[in-house]
Amino acid sequence: MNIAIIGCGYVGCAAAQAWQQKMTFMVTATTTTPERVPTLQSVAQKVVVTQGNDREKLKSVLQNQDIVLLSIGAKGANVYAETYLNTAQTLVEILQDTPSVKQLIYTGSYSVYGNHNGALVDEETLATPSNDNGKILKATEDILLAASSEKLRVCILRLGGIYGPNRELIKIFSRVPGTTRPGNGEDVANWIHLDDIVGAIEFVRLNHLQGIYNLVDDANFTSRELLDSLMVKHNLAKVQWDHTAKTNRSYNVKVSNQKIKAAGYKLIQPQMIF
Ligand SMILES: NC(=O)c1ccc[n+]([C@@H]2O[C@H](COP(=O)([O-])OP(=O)(O)OC[C@H]3O[C@@H](n4cnc5c(N)ncnc54)[C@H](OP(=O)(O)O)[C@@H]3O)[C@@H](O)[C@H]2O)c1
Repeated sequence: MNIAIIGCGYVGCAAAQAWQQKMTFMVTATTTTPERVPTLQSVAQKVVVTQGNDREKLKSVLQNQDIVLLSIGAKGANVYAETYLNTAQTLVEILQDTPSVKQLIYTGSYSVYGNHNGALVDEETLATPSNDNGKILKATEDILLAASSEKLRVCILRLGGIYGPNRELIKIFSRVPGTTRPGNGEDVANWIHLDDIVGAIEFVRLNHLQGIYNLVDDANFTSRELLDSLMVKHNLAKVQWDHTAKTNRSYNVKVSNQKIKAAGYKLIQPQMIF
């Protein structure tokens, strides 16, 4: 089994590591950063330095691959189009002439749903992104899904906020203890642990899933509940909420994880680890 991981960062590395443990898997990983090559060589048999829009390099990476995991992450809010759209466009063009690839798995984001004022959303809900970068992510999904065929299964995982080893919640929210945040904190926090991202990617691969699947845990905390629990656990000063100020989150949705569960996936970390 030959697997290419386009964008081998936090998620890509964890998936690579899991696949590399299977003796029959040959993992090729890409990075844009030459300095990361030695690190990636410890999780992948082959490492290629390339941007996602470099057609020739990407084409050589994709030769003879069976599975492609697309797990790119923009390095700034102003490079979303360049990162996601250009890579997706380049990728699908190459895949048209790369029949060995049977499945494309993409780690997207639930932010594509936009703002539903905390209402439950599932994969049938119309995605109406509430900001420009959300629109770019939605357009990226559309490009990838349009490439789906009987010969190429395309699966989009809409991830919640990512946390896990070395990206613990307490690190993510390290500047938050004792601060006052805008809004009432009642927006829904949708998160997913790295174990489940790796687990779900493998589940998607094994079960040949295609289409869109949300991937969030069962916790269903509000931001207030999450930060309260986190501060209590680490014995830090509580966060205050300024009800008179407008929240800085442009979307508020409660993401359903029923579809992937109904497909048979069992969450490894259904509750949040503080
Ligand atoms: N962080 C979250 O909470 C969150 C939530 C929902 C969804 N997601 C999505 O989950 C995915 C994976 O996240 P992550 O945390 O693993 O990201 P990450 O650690 O930042 O890794 C992203 C990877 O993409 C590569 N990359 C960046 N720009 C690129 C480009 N123009 N062309 C090709 N490769 C490029 C990076 O290259 P280098 O190796 O050079 O750095 C890196 O290998 C992302 O798509 C993200 O949008 C994230």
